[in-house]
Amino acid sequence: MGIYSKIGKSRTYLVAAKKTMKIVAFFCISGIRHKHDNEFPFLPTVEIIGFGIDKDLHGSGLGRKFLEHIIKRERKLGVKIISVMAIPSAVGFYKNFGFEEADPKMEIHCDDENFNCTPMYIMI
Ligand SMILES: CC(C)(COP(=O)(O)OP(=O)(O)OC[C@H]1O[C@@H](n2cnc3c(N)ncnc32)[C@H](O)[C@@H]1OP(=O)(O)O)[C@@H](O)C(=O)NCCC(=O)NCCS
Repeated sequence: MGIYSKIGKSRTYLVAAKKTMKIVAFFCISGIRHKHDNEFPFLPTVEIIGFGIDKDLHGSGLGRKFLEHIIKRERKLGVKIISVMAIPSAVGFYKNFGFEEADPKMEIHCDDENFNCTPMYIMI
């Protein structure tokens, strides 16, 4: 989450189980400017810069629930593109929701922290 949280450009959400108050999920969203294409060079875009579900609950549908929540909420706010730097083991998860591998000309940022990740995006 590095630079975005340092400059106050990200929103982090923690989700706790009602009974135990144990954190079961978190996600972090940042407003950002990616190039899109020549026709619409810049569209309102957010990037998922953190997303995780409690290991014990993987495969329980929580990832779907919160990714659908993010998409619905950002669409309501007028966002047109959601991007993510997907770690190798999560590429299939995002593809499952219609995320595509991004063209390098979208200039999705890459730094030391995410150099082995796949830049992906979805139009919403
Ligand atoms: C990736 C992650 C968020 C998925 O959450 P989850 O709760 O386990 O996923 P769900 O049970 O909601 O699965 C939703 C759908 O995605 C599929 N899916 C889940 N993980 C997948 C994966 N790694 N590859 C391909 N498909 C995957 C499921 O089969 C399911 O498909 P279906 O609805 O068609 O049956 C979770 O495994 C996680 O926190 N991983 C570690 C952190 C991480 O990788 N974060 C992403 C960083 S970019």
